[in-house]
Amino acid sequence: MKLIIASNNKHKIIEIKSILGDTFEEILSQKEAGFEGEAEENGATFAENSYIKAKEIADKFPGYATLADDSGLAVDALGGEPGVNSARYCGEHGNDGANNEKLLTVLKNEKNRKAKFVCAITLILPDGKVLTTEGETEGEIIHTLEGTGGFGYDPLFLSKDLAKTFGEASEEEKNSVSHRGRALRNLSMILKIQNLR
Ligand code: IMP
Repeated sequence: MKLIIASNNKHKIIEIKSILGDTFEEILSQKEAGFEGEAEENGATFAENSYIKAKEIADKFPGYATLADDSGLAVDALGGEPGVNSARYCGEHGNDGANNEKLLTVLKNEKNRKAKFVCAITLILPDGKVLTTEGETEGEIIHTLEGTGGFGYDPLFLSKDLAKTFGEASEEEKNSVSHRGRALRNLSMILKIQNLR
């Protein structure tokens, strides 16, 4: 089975390819498949948004499996915000630096720094069957950026599992405990159990 990843985020694409490499015959990003658009993410949940993104590519590329991730940061003291608005928290889509700055400002005098990353993955198989999995990872938001790896909020997210920020972790370390890693490994297991690959 050949898979197209419905994303233009190069970091996500690298993480997904590295975790699902053995599960599919070939994995292409939507750009490699010849599509550079961006679906409108107007769902209320991570799962809904991941379905919207996967469905757009599935409709354009019949015969392929398509997979989309929707993910974000949920901060306890902010009632789960930025949540589905994580990519555009500062008002501009995908400006990681400004998103991190806003988060630090909003949490300036906050003692409860608990947070989690959440990831929903939707896979649409060539016959139209839809599988959705989720993964979470816990941590806390530190006061200054640490590390230059990863993307998004990684330098501010002190992982409970790794005892270092995702910005300081190697790619393998992050994948082994991350929300995305967990959701993707769940998916891989479901495909195996149901004999779908
Ligand atoms: P999406 O592309 O709409 O799913 O937005 C995901 C946003 O959530 C990203 O732009 C990041 O701000 C944040 N995010 C999701 N996963 C991660 C991660 O693994 N590390 C850091 N930030 C993440």
